[in-house]
Amino acid sequence: MEVVILGGSRPIGKLAADAIEELLRRKPDAVLGLATGSSPLPVYEELAARHATGLDFSRASGFALDEYVGLPDGHPEQYRNVIRREFTDRINIDPANVHSPDGSAADIPAACDAYEAAIAAAGDVDLQLLGVGTDGHIGFNEPGSSFASRTRIKSLIEQTRKDNARFFTSLADVPHHVITQGLGTIMDARHVILIATGAQKAQAVRDFVEGPVAAICPASVLQFHPHATVLVDEAAASALK
Ligand code: F6R
Repeated sequence: MEVVILGGSRPIGKLAADAIEELLRRKPDAVLGLATGSSPLPVYEELAARHATGLDFSRASGFALDEYVGLPDGHPEQYRNVIRREFTDRINIDPANVHSPDGSAADIPAACDAYEAAIAAAGDVDLQLLGVGTDGHIGFNEPGSSFASRTRIKSLIEQTRKDNARFFTSLADVPHHVITQGLGTIMDARHVILIATGAQKAQAVRDFVEGPVAAICPASVLQFHPHATVLVDEAAASALK
């Protein structure tokens, strides 16, 4: 695991965008793993700017990391809509090649299996963007998630619902369930870039970078990943030894 401490969100966005640009030049039909939340926004901003000056996504495809269960179609916080708004509508990726778990499926387990199959059929994720929760979750694999887990439905713990309430009118509106890629699914990505900024992430960063690999801290599984890059600002790095 490589940890890079940078001066803020802007340089973090640029460094992650450099990796994605290099990947697209080498492999124009690259498969990108797309996270939501605040952490990847500087990357999407930078990539949209680079697209405006020629970076081509026309042959790329994308897979969202997770999706809320039960939000009505068209809800602004449905992650498929967030990813469109923040990223894919701003570049020339084919919308038909941007995939999300189906959080309104009648048969959720079947939708999860179909999502795994779609990722495999695309040849697996080349570069997966990740944030980390204050409890060490990646995707929505909350503490205790199996390192072997695949895409499935999960309950959000109360702290994660509180952390995400800023995107909703009230805490009561934050869904209790999500579909998330599993830790095993995430570990199959060829390169993983995790972004963490702000002092509220300092303890989680310390736990997953320097602590033991343990299910209580899901992001610690990345210590076993052959190509994991962690981009942090000084505040998020402040508890590292
Ligand atoms: C989002 C996701 C979550 C977030 C994490 C951090 O798709 O899977 O794991 O990355 O909750 O969220 P932010 O970046 O908003 O602090």
